[in-house]
Amino acid sequence: MSFMRSTTCVPMTTGLLFVWVCLCSSMLRVPVASGAQGLKTKLVAKYYGIEKCKDKESLFHFANVSYVLHDDGGTLVNAILDFLVPISSFKTIVVNINRCAGGVASNLCEYYTRWTWSTAICSLLVTKNMIWTPWVECIKPTFKCPVPAIRRYCTNCSLDLRLADSMGLRFVDKYIWDTEIQLWSERNQLAFCMTMYFEPQRVPTHKSGSKS
Ligand SMILES: *[C@@H]1O[C@H](CO)[C@@H](O)[C@H](O)[C@H]1NC(C)=O
Ligand SMILES: *[C@@H]1O[C@H](CO)[C@@H](O)[C@H](O)[C@H]1NC(C)=O
Repeated sequence: MSFMRSTTCVPMTTGLLFVWVCLCSSMLRVPVASGAQGLKTKLVAKYYGIEKCKDKESLFHFANVSYVLHDDGGTLVNAILDFLVPISSFKTIVVNINRCAGGVASNLCEYYTRWTWSTAICSLLVTKNMIWTPWVECIKPTFKCPVPAIRRYCTNCSLDLRLADSMGLRFVDKYIWDTEIQLWSERNQLAFCMTMYFEPQRVPTHKSGSKS
């Protein structure tokens, strides 16, 4: 993709951060989709479906997924997350991204991109200011390596789409995004595989205290 050609990468500690900083710095030269002039907006996610990958064996169960409408117009997700075996660390994250115009039927979706990270995944998962940060932080008990095989609860979880915006998932709010997130263990087993359909929605930001 064109924004991978940046020459202004800032070397950082992990492979992912390296890529991330490249993306962000190259995006500074590209107009970012925004709301009406002068109106401050933010992207929130409306989820159409979050489930375990149907076509792949993995080492966790996802149960009782439910959705709650948030004050800001986005959706919050509740779910039970059970890892079936302990996992000492993760080796790779793969995110397959398709985008869908007008609906989520397979004939409306097309391949968009694929992200793969394979450096320092355990620290990456708990790094602040990533698209997944609020999601990881809302999991109780805490989700970090090593991952014991215990029940965890996701309560009011959501992604932080501001980063998607600055990474240049362009016109992000015109599509429904069909993403598959894979976490591979250090033993090269597919530990976690989740599909997530979401539609970013650009909503006005409210002054603190006010509601829509
Ligand atoms: C999951 O949902 C089922 C059906 O509503 C309920 O019986 C069960 O107690 C729930 N599990 C947990 C752990 O809340
Ligand atoms: C989750 O969000 C709902 C709706 O905004 C709220 O009523 C509830 O208190 C929240 N729960 C927690 C644990 O934050």
